[in-house]
Amino acid sequence: MKRYKILHVVGARPQFVKMALVAEAAKTFGCLETVIVHTGQHYDRNMSDVFFSELKMPRPGYNLGVGSGSHAVQISKMIDGLGRILVKERPDAVFVYGDTNSTLAGAIAATKVGVKLVHVEAGLRSFNRSMPEEINRIMTDSVSDILFCPTRTAVDNLRAEGVSKGVFRVEDVMLDMLIRYSRIAEKKSKILITLGRKRVDYYLATVHRSYNTDDPKRLRGLIKTFGLLDKPVIFPMHPRTKKVLRDNKIALGRNIIAVAPVPYVDMLSLEMNAAAILTDSGGVQKEAFFLKVPCVTLREETEWVETVRSGWNILAGVDEGKIKRALSKLAKKRKSKAMKKPGSSAKKMLAITISNLRGKR
Ligand code: UD1
Ligand code: UDP
Repeated sequence: MKRYKILHVVGARPQFVKMALVAEAAKTFGCLETVIVHTGQHYDRNMSDVFFSELKMPRPGYNLGVGSGSHAVQISKMIDGLGRILVKERPDAVFVYGDTNSTLAGAIAATKVGVKLVHVEAGLRSFNRSMPEEINRIMTDSVSDILFCPTRTAVDNLRAEGVSKGVFRVEDVMLDMLIRYSRIAEKKSKILITLGRKRVDYYLATVHRSYNTDDPKRLRGLIKTFGLLDKPVIFPMHPRTKKVLRDNKIALGRNIIAVAPVPYVDMLSLEMNAAAILTDSGGVQKEAFFLKVPCVTLREETEWVETVRSGWNILAGVDEGKIKRALSKLAKKRKSKAMKKPGSSAKKMLAITISNLRGKR
């Protein structure tokens, strides 16, 4: 049987979550060899290593150690490192995930050496080109050979851009992850006890988008709003956000429980038990929707339009009045969601890729 080598490029927190099931499923295919390249975009223990240990992922074969920097420096260092590894490893396909700088660098490096490019979470669009992630998505999709779309809207977005070859609608791998790990979170996470909170007696907030953090005035306003809410706010702080708060001496209200970024299982526990979630994260919005926990999105637009259409997510930007109105509107909706069994999105994506490499698709 012919063997295929698949090289996965990851670098940022949401990509570890997206890749975990794919790397695990790859072991069930006798014909697949997996190589993982970590770009080093995220490097703090609680932004990186903790995911590999907790989600029992194979350790990366390479870590480029790129770290933080301007987008140009970050992406060019990644392309340089990836280019060398691709020439050495000669994989049959490269998988990239989501919409970060690591995604775009993986896409450019793979296409420049002529390796088949597979994009997991293709077709998402916010239609806001000032977001670095939107540019990363458009550029990556435009050169991908296989595009795995988690929603019908994503397929339609690609069609509108003239991309239909190699497009596949598959279940969302983040949903399968959440189903699997929310059970573990229910049984094992002690985060609520540690933080002295009970189910539904707090809000959960995350903030890290550049447009919410780069302007200290905007971030100050948002933090002030959190301080005025009617419940404690558990706030796992992204290092980017922590830095801006510290550098600008922005004080947190007494109801804000600031914590370091938490591991995935604790994060799911915090999400499942929150009265509502306030976030600018793409992944967290989606998880709130899957868990049927009300979500107020601290952005003016979203690529996950289904979450808004369903009534579980309200786009409020950083406007105090809009945020408060959204929370009171959504309060009535809070309920518990019975989880179905995890699907097989990861296996399907790998099976489609193998067929494609064999020239059958
Ligand atoms: C990146 C992605 C974003 C994704 C997010 C997930 C891009 C353009 N952005 O944003 O799409 O939603 O990851 O969390 O790729 N830092 C640390 N330690 C770390 C990582 C970052 O201190 O381990 C700090 C540094 O000051 C750094 C800043 O955070 O400059 C921003 O990190 P970066 O990776 O550039 O972007 P994110 O905001 O994390
Ligand atoms: N997450 C986590 N701990 C945290 C914050 C987020 O495990 O402290 C998880 C979250 O559950 C989701 C993913 O990280 O699976 C989302 O990553 P992030 O918000 O950093 O990026 P985005 O999805 O916006 O690109």
